[in-house]
Amino acid sequence: MEYRMRVIVHTSKCQGHARCWAQAPEIFNLDDEGYILPGAIDVEERDELFASRGARSCPERALEIDCV
Ligand code: F3S
Repeated sequence: MEYRMRVIVHTSKCQGHARCWAQAPEIFNLDDEGYILPGAIDVEERDELFASRGARSCPERALEIDCV
C-alpha cells in the first residue's frame, strides 16, 4: 500500500496528554500509562484528516506530520 502521510512520533516529548488518542483512537496507540507508543505511523489516505487533527492536538508537539 502507498502512503502519502506519515506521523513521526517523538516519544521523549510525550507527556501522556492523550489528546491525539481522543481525536483518533484508531491511529494513535497509547501504552497502559497513557503515553504514545514509539514508531512512525503510516496513515491511510482516508485517515489523513483524523491523523492531522490528532497530531496537531498534541500540546507537546510530540507528533510530527511528514508528507511523502
Ligand atoms: Fe503524548 Fe501528545 Fe498524545 S503528549 S499522548 S503524543 S497528545
